[in-house]
Amino acid sequence: MNILILGSGGRESAFAWKLSQSPKCGQLFIAPGNAGTSQYGQNVNIRVTDFEGIGRFTLDNAIDLVLVGPEEPLVKGIHNFFLADEQLKSIPVIGPQREGAQLEGSKDFSKEFMFRNHIPTAASKTFTQDTLQDGLKYLATQSLPIVLKADGLAAGKGVLICTTLEEAQLELIEMLTEAKFGEASSKVVIEQFLQGIELSVFVMSDGVNYKVLPEAKDYKRIGEGDTGLNTGGMGSVSPVPFADAAFMQKVTDRVIIPTVDGLKKENIPYKGFIFIGLMNCDGEPYVIEYNCRMGDPETESVMPRIKSDFVDLLLGVAEGNLNEKELIISDKTAATVVMVAGGYPGEYLKNKVITGTENVHESHVFHAGTSIQGEDIISTGGRVLAITSLQDNMFEALQQATADAARVYYDGMYFRKDIGFDLL
Ligand code: AMP
Ligand code: GLY
Repeated sequence: MNILILGSGGRESAFAWKLSQSPKCGQLFIAPGNAGTSQYGQNVNIRVTDFEGIGRFTLDNAIDLVLVGPEEPLVKGIHNFFLADEQLKSIPVIGPQREGAQLEGSKDFSKEFMFRNHIPTAASKTFTQDTLQDGLKYLATQSLPIVLKADGLAAGKGVLICTTLEEAQLELIEMLTEAKFGEASSKVVIEQFLQGIELSVFVMSDGVNYKVLPEAKDYKRIGEGDTGLNTGGMGSVSPVPFADAAFMQKVTDRVIIPTVDGLKKENIPYKGFIFIGLMNCDGEPYVIEYNCRMGDPETESVMPRIKSDFVDLLLGVAEGNLNEKELIISDKTAATVVMVAGGYPGEYLKNKVITGTENVHESHVFHAGTSIQGEDIISTGGRVLAITSLQDNMFEALQQATADAARVYYDGMYFRKDIGFDLL
C-alpha cells in the first residue's frame, strides 16, 4: 500500500524509517519531509495545511493511508476535509477529526473532558476577557506557584508558571486583554501547580480499542541540568525507569481507559495517537496535557523499540481492529540526543553545512530541520538532527547517542550531554 506522511521533523523521520521497513509499505511519500526522509521515501513539496494540495496528491498517487505527524492540520480539520470529499473519504487518515483534536487544540476543552470523565488532573478554572475580574480574584485565592495556560495552540509557548500573585495577575491581564498569545489566549486556564516528574505516555486508538506504545521522557530545557529556556525538546529516553508496572497500571486504569471510553461515550470519533503528558506526583499519575499526535523527540525513541510491523498497527487503527494486531516492544533502551542550531531557541543560525553523519554507525541519524542544497545537507531549522541509539541498557544507549552526536559537525551546533543521566 502507498502511504503519505505529513510533516517535516524528527518525528516524521522516525515514522518514515519505521514504515519503510514494513513489507506492507509500497510507495512512501513525505510532505514536505526533510533531507533525511528522502532516504526512506519520496519527499513531496506540499505544506501540511494545504488540504487541497494534499487531497489532489493523494488521489493522483493512489495513496492508501495518510499519517499525520503534527497537530496543526488535525486541529484545522484535515481528517474532516477527507471525510467531506466523495473521492477521499474512503482513504484512512491516522489522526483524529477536528473535535477529537480539541484535546490538544483547546486546554479548556481537555480540562472539561477530564473533569467529566473523572481523569486525575490539576484543579483549574477557565476565564475570558468578560470574566477577567473574577479571574484576578480567583488568582488571589490560589497557592503559588500557579500555572496560566493559553487555551489554544501557541507553538509550545502558551504556558506560564508564575511564582508571585502580582506576576500572575499581570500575565492574566496581558493574555486576556492584550492577546499576548493572539487568539490562543482569548481564554486562559488557571491551573494548580503540580510537583513531580513528567513522562509522556502514548496510546494508539481505533476509537474503541487501544494499544499502549512505549512511554518516554523528554527533556525540554536548552541547558544541561534542565536549565534555561524551553525548547521543542532536546532529547528523550524510553523506557522510563520510574514508570514501572504498578505505575503504568494506574495510568491505564485511571487515565487511558477513561480517556478512550470517554471519547466513545461522548461520540467523539478518534482514530490516531493520544499523547498523554503526565506528572508522577509521589507515584500517582496526573494528566498535564493531551496532544492529538505523537511527541517529538519522543517518537525517535519510541519507534526503534517497536518490533511489530507498524503499518499493520496503523491499519488496525484505520479498520477498527486494533485489538487483533500484535504490538511487541523491545526491552532495550532507546536514547535520543537532539542537535540544535546555534542560538536556538532564540534567533538561530541557518544554512550551515552538516558533515560527519557518515561516521555514525551505532545510532540512527533522524533528520529534523535539514534540506538538501546541491551536494550538501544544510541546517534549516532550530532542531537539526536527532541521534537515537538502541542498546541493552540505559547507560549504553545514552553514552552511544551522545558519542555519536559528537561525530557530526556544523557551525554553531549544540546538544545536551546530560540527556537521561538523571534517570540512571
Ligand atoms: P504544556 O504546554 O501543557 O505541555 O505545558 C508545558 C510545560 O509546563 C509542561 O511540560 C510542564 O512542564 C509544565 N506544566 C504545565 N502544567 C503544569 C502544572 N499544572 N504543574 C506543573 N507544571 C506544569
Ligand atoms: N515533546 C513534546 C511534544 O512533542 O509536544
